[in-house]
Amino acid sequence: MTDKTEDAFKMNRRKFIKRSTMAAAAVTLLPKQLPLQTADAAAPADTGASGGGKLPDYAGKMLHSDMGVQSGRKAAMPDPKKPYQMPLTKEEQDILNGSKGKVIAKIMKTIVAHGNAFGADKLVELGGAPHSSMYFGTGYMKALIDIFDECADAGLRAYRPYTVNPRPYDVYNVNNNAKDIELIYEGYALQRDVDYIHSRLGSPDLNYRSCACYLDEVGNAPKPGTYVAWAESSAVNYGNSVLGLRTNRNATGMELLCALLGKAPRFGLMTDEGRMAKWLVEVKTTKEPDWGVVGTAIGRKCVEDVPYITGLEKYFKGGKVTADNLHLLKAMGSATASSGAVGLYHVEGVTPDAKDKGKKLLVKGYKTYVIDDAEQARVRGTFKNLWPDKNADPTACFIGCPHNTYYEVVKWGKMVTEALKKAGKKKAAIPVYMFMANVVRAKLIEEEPELAGAMRRGGMLPTNMCSVSYAGMKGFSERVRGVTNSAKTRNYSSIQYFPDDVLVEIIVTGKIPKRA
Ligand code: F3S
Repeated sequence: MTDKTEDAFKMNRRKFIKRSTMAAAAVTLLPKQLPLQTADAAAPADTGASGGGKLPDYAGKMLHSDMGVQSGRKAAMPDPKKPYQMPLTKEEQDILNGSKGKVIAKIMKTIVAHGNAFGADKLVELGGAPHSSMYFGTGYMKALIDIFDECADAGLRAYRPYTVNPRPYDVYNVNNNAKDIELIYEGYALQRDVDYIHSRLGSPDLNYRSCACYLDEVGNAPKPGTYVAWAESSAVNYGNSVLGLRTNRNATGMELLCALLGKAPRFGLMTDEGRMAKWLVEVKTTKEPDWGVVGTAIGRKCVEDVPYITGLEKYFKGGKVTADNLHLLKAMGSATASSGAVGLYHVEGVTPDAKDKGKKLLVKGYKTYVIDDAEQARVRGTFKNLWPDKNADPTACFIGCPHNTYYEVVKWGKMVTEALKKAGKKKAAIPVYMFMANVVRAKLIEEEPELAGAMRRGGMLPTNMCSVSYAGMKGFSERVRGVTNSAKTRNYSSIQYFPDDVLVEIIVTGKIPKRA
């Protein structure tokens, strides 16, 4: 198998796992198609809902996958005729049988089916606060919207007030033109329903919407070791790795069901075994690495496996992740999670699991991947120019996917306004969209009002939307030639990736420099 076909194979396996999870959920949520799960957890009835009965085709394949390794357990379903049934307490079984009402029983049944599919050993109490990645109201979200409407109508609420990903559009700062408005209201016709669901299930107002929920201003950073059930890949990746949380990469919808139940099935990245690293990644670049490129390289190589990364400690003074360096891990981690499906990484001397256990986190027979200058350049060289007119000039710059930290906003504000001043220009050659939570923007206005004004006058527009959603709008790639410093945005769009210093030059001149 060549590197390319191997990568494609791994990506297909990742998609398969994700689809299988949602399929398990969807099957269970279909009313009246499946009998209720029996009260006898040890000897489950012959139903698809509890993992019994004839396995659907997709589930049968799991028996031959590496799920046992990925979930941190031995293959849980060696015999398709005796599918795995996770143990439940009496109280959990009672809830499943309807002791607390029909709606919560359906939720329990769905979550147990999900746990069964992945060989979970039990349901665990969730702590901290939930984070939901259900944020866009497109037509195909209707089924999920209906499910959560039913939950809200039944009076259910999340176990704590929770955070939600940014909305997919911003009609005040970015989409404030007739064409975009038309596309938005056609494409996101159910957005109001999604927002209404979240306000009824317990999320705060829209000012807190952000994928970087763990930032101080947004305030969702549970303590190390807390079990949560998050879904947004960059938040899962940051939470598991940097905060030391324990969550799997849940599919959208599953995270909110778990939030309503207050429990999640424990498997995979929630277990000690599942947090072991199969890869030793040695970063040996002679200068500070390009964090987005290194993250992309790791994601492509490790796919869904856990990497143990060395060579980065020197960029985190005293091994501490602080307000002025956390964006480095945010950039690298989100790239691992979008170019692959990395839900957890360890950085030697920096992240909590690695500080605790060091190289003992490596499994026996681990593989090694070295990222030196040549490998970094090779991976960077695979970033293709996807603009229809490849030699034309850029038309917009995208900074902040995942959402900017306050430190990044100030840093970019100063870099761009000073570069403009130096060049004798009043305004950037292209609009610079700065993606951030409204609460971060509010802090900028309160603490750096002069800079906020200079940024605005210079063409830097704060927006609380999702960068990739904007890039996914119909006709975007024909209309906009974007540039970004986010490897995640690059992964999901036609926007071109450049390092920060090149981006500043592009912003000032409107041209891509020859050296780039
Ligand atoms: Fe956040 Fe959207 Fe990027 S949710 S991580 S800005 S894709």
